Amino acid sequence: MTYANLLIQDQDAVRTITINRPDKLNALNQATILELRQAFTAARSDDSVRVVVLTGAGPKAFVAGADISELAEQSAVGAREFSLIGQRMMREVETLGKPVIARLNGFTLGGGMELAMCCHLRIAAEQVKLGQPEINLGIIPGFGGTQRLTRLTGRAAALELCLLGAPISAERAFQLGIVNRVVPAADLDAEVAKVAAQLAKAAPIALRGILDAVIHGADMALDQGLEYESQGFAVTASTEDMHEGTRAFLEKRAPEFKGC
Ligand code: COA
Repeated sequence: MTYANLLIQDQDAVRTITINRPDKLNALNQATILELRQAFTAARSDDSVRVVVLTGAGPKAFVAGADISELAEQSAVGAREFSLIGQRMMREVETLGKPVIARLNGFTLGGGMELAMCCHLRIAAEQVKLGQPEINLGIIPGFGGTQRLTRLTGRAAALELCLLGAPISAERAFQLGIVNRVVPAADLDAEVAKVAAQLAKAAPIALRGILDAVIHGADMALDQGLEYESQGFAVTASTEDMHEGTRAFLEKRAPEFKGC
């Protein structure tokens, strides 16, 4: 499958999806959003893919937001549809059932910040600026920013970022719990590759169980979340990979997980 606005590259079990509109700082127009949804749906159903890395083309941006030239022409009805299309695509990313690493190589703003927050791990180059600048355009974040940022950082930081609209440094985003790791730009690829390789070797059904329990459990009452976790634990206990993992420990060797 080829895409007009995305590049797809597979290496071993890691699929890299690159948003490829560098002239527009990888801004999310509707066509790109629809392609991202297709690309993540394809990654979901492809058993050879165990980890996805999502990044932006060029040296300047991960994604500099929703495409403002499209936004400028929107009616209220069209804007609502655009918001829903973006939200659905991002939910597809968040609930992929396989780990998604955001490789933040540059500006991560507006819809780019919202897209990064749907990923499960975020690794940023140290010069990266992140933010929710929609207020400067007279709008609010429309792809989940007000909801996911609040869940990641708490209300105080979420309100500061959304109300003031000023970008923050990668280091500040790390302090706020928005990004997991900050590295020099020269080390970004190596760091992403290291984390991706570790995840690609991990037991896929257990990875999925963790993603499901953390993502869905976060919106449940504690007792419900614990019940959900317990059922996921039981599922992983029925897998070949659990036998392999425990056997490998006892035999003092590295496990080889097969995803069954
Ligand atoms: N939508 C559409 N086009 C965008 C864009 C966006 N969100 N962000 C950048 N671009 C385009 C610019 O219009 C420019 O296109 P052009 O060369 O055809 O004029 C190109 O990308 C390069 O951007 P430019 O602004 O020249 O780069 P810069 O280095 O001077 O500034 C930013 C970088 C990120 C600070 C600036 O582009 C910016 O503020 N972008 C908008 C961020 C935003 O508000 N995002 C939220 C949208 S809801």
